[in-house]
Amino acid sequence: MIEHNVNLADLRADFPILTQTNRGKPLVYLDSAASAQKPKQVIDAISHFYSHDYANIHRGIYELSERSTALYENTREKVRQLINANHKEEIVFLSGTTEGINLIAQTLGRTNWQAGDEVIISEMEHHSNIVPWFLLKQQIGIEIKVIPVTDQGALDINAFKQLISPRTKLVAITHASNVLGTINPVKEITKLAHEQHIPVLLDGAQAVPHMPVDVKDIDCDFYVFSSHKLYGPTGIGALYGKKEWLDKLPPYKGGGDMIETVSFEEVTFAKAPQKFEAGTPDIAGVVGMSAAIDYVQKIGMQTIYAHEQALLNYAIPRLQTIPGLRLIGTTSPKVGVISFVMEDIHPHDLGTVLDHEGIAVRAGHHCAMPLMQRFNVPATVRASFGLYSQEQDVDALIAAIQLAKRLFS
Ligand code: ALA
Repeated sequence: MIEHNVNLADLRADFPILTQTNRGKPLVYLDSAASAQKPKQVIDAISHFYSHDYANIHRGIYELSERSTALYENTREKVRQLINANHKEEIVFLSGTTEGINLIAQTLGRTNWQAGDEVIISEMEHHSNIVPWFLLKQQIGIEIKVIPVTDQGALDINAFKQLISPRTKLVAITHASNVLGTINPVKEITKLAHEQHIPVLLDGAQAVPHMPVDVKDIDCDFYVFSSHKLYGPTGIGALYGKKEWLDKLPPYKGGGDMIETVSFEEVTFAKAPQKFEAGTPDIAGVVGMSAAIDYVQKIGMQTIYAHEQALLNYAIPRLQTIPGLRLIGTTSPKVGVISFVMEDIHPHDLGTVLDHEGIAVRAGHHCAMPLMQRFNVPATVRASFGLYSQEQDVDALIAAIQLAKRLFS
């Protein structure tokens, strides 16, 4: 039995969706890396907001709008605390990790960089941290340099040092891999980049839901994450940027609420973070994200991390006893993400058998095609944990893999 100070049974009861069946079997949800399920505290907060507190923000001079604005703006402070930023003005709300990376590419990159300038990413990036740079390559001719991944699934730090050049404008890497689970040494990477005066952007989509994150300690310049992987609603997330950077960057989108004055001759912009939040934002999404942050903070990110580590320690040795199963990504530390392939069973076939046993996993390239090529696999099966995951989920997964082996032998 896993020892920790979370009453798991109580927590699972917070997630109404977990009580249902999948293809007639009890649902075993092992796809939290794709998106986490939502506790009723989050669902209720959104419903309560629309029933009692909803109005547009920053515009009305009436009580309801002030209340709505306060709920929205107070969430900036909650995000600040969650990732330990210095100022709440360093938090920009946007649709999620993908938009955050695109924002940096199109503001920092497009307006400041020249053809031949370089961005360093890595072989384990999600497409959301590859394609925005590829677009910039098409638009202005930048070069993309790629840190290789070792056979165990770690970044090759010596290779990284060799990639840094006088043309390097940004290091943009993931904090934790959505395929391998690898937690990258982002503090060391940031230090190495800063020694050469190069800013660092971290993709925190798979880190923020699973572990304590401290942007001040890491000292990164930009950090992005999505609410929906943190038990909050879809369509909302946050970009952290050091104040001096956000003050310098130009706006990303134009529209209402991001300006100071507008005439046909001249537009002056609001200060950050409003400068980056054009138009009516996803106010209810922010309110839901706020409830999600309250929820995980009450449990404690260190407790969630310890719980998922214990599950990894339970799952990995058991999976390794299955003949023909190959884990992809064996380095540590890692978050609760386990990718694997089976000899003689295509990942999609295995995923289908698991689905029929009630088990929800992701089978595919996980939006990381270059990483699939690196490991010479067409796809993997990925089981990923959330705070509600339990040993029984791992047992069910292993039993279903054994069944698939029998079916395909
Ligand atoms: N980025 C999400 C995943 O890894 C969708 O599955």
